[in-house]
Amino acid sequence: MLDKVKEIQSEVADFNAQSIEKLEAFRIAYLGKKGKVTLLFNEFRNVPNDQKKEFGAQLNVLKKTIQSKIIELKEQIGSKKLNSKTEIDLTVPPQPYELGSRHPISIVKNEIIEIFSNIGFSISEGPEIEDDWHNFSALNFPENHPARDMQDTFFISKDIALRTHTSSVQVREMEKRQPPIRTISPGRVFRNEAISARAHCFFHQVEGLFIDKNVSFGDLKQTLSYFTKQMFGDKTKIRLRPSYFPFTEPSAEVDVSCTICSGKGCNVCKYSGWLEIMGCGMVDPNVLDNCKIDSKIYTGFAFGMGIERIAQLKYQVNDLRLYSENDLRFLGQFKSANI
Ligand code: DAH
Repeated sequence: MLDKVKEIQSEVADFNAQSIEKLEAFRIAYLGKKGKVTLLFNEFRNVPNDQKKEFGAQLNVLKKTIQSKIIELKEQIGSKKLNSKTEIDLTVPPQPYELGSRHPISIVKNEIIEIFSNIGFSISEGPEIEDDWHNFSALNFPENHPARDMQDTFFISKDIALRTHTSSVQVREMEKRQPPIRTISPGRVFRNEAISARAHCFFHQVEGLFIDKNVSFGDLKQTLSYFTKQMFGDKTKIRLRPSYFPFTEPSAEVDVSCTICSGKGCNVCKYSGWLEIMGCGMVDPNVLDNCKIDSKIYTGFAFGMGIERIAQLKYQVNDLRLYSENDLRFLGQFKSANI
């Protein structure tokens, strides 16, 4: 009997399992109902009395050895599995990251900024919540001008409103410093309009202002001609039509030769060959004086354009609502144009 125990002991010592299945088979073979060790326990009563003590002790040791061997091997197999899970396979090609894209309004805004920075314009910004003085009064709007109407302007109180244009930043810049002033002011503006493909309650503008001695209408024309050629291509022409703004005198509306048909006539320019892109003019002397700039010494020009309008012409986007809907199918189309 004792020989049997020794024999099993050496079998157990030699055993080494690579898998949980093999280990389970080992357990059954020794400790299962018909296992070798269980059978030895069953034979205990046939052992002569004087050997019972030693045999029992050895049998118990054997059983414990097998049990702890099973636990030990189980842990080994488990940790091997874990290790193989965390092993890094350096040959697997990485998942490509999906690149984001800039919003078309940001792309066009950055382009406008770059074009004007190249000819010495600085960038200035002002608040979106503005007082009556900066948005209207200083800009020479008469008391009963329709733009002040509740229909157009989001008023917060009698004197405070969401700015209706970035021309308010002109006033702030002129109040801050004396000429020469050469600055552009990009920003968001608000109007109380019903939302449709052609109108929105908020949009973006870039205001331009140049004040110095002897600034002429010719300088304004050259600056705008330079800008449109940079923006839409060398062959682009501009045309100025007389217009009216309270803060400029004389004032003009600026058209560019159609960016689609180059002026031949198509349905985008409604067969006129021209597309309207901004307003401009010579800063009204009243505005200079309102901002403590001596209108007898200084003259200047100003212009204002809608960023959505420029983007619409550049990218053929015909619905203004697309710019604020955050539809990834729309935004994802500007990936290659990131600047
Ligand atoms: N502020 C005008 C608007 O929102 C645009 C504009 C026109 C700005 C003429 C100017 C300008 O500086 O000279 O419609």
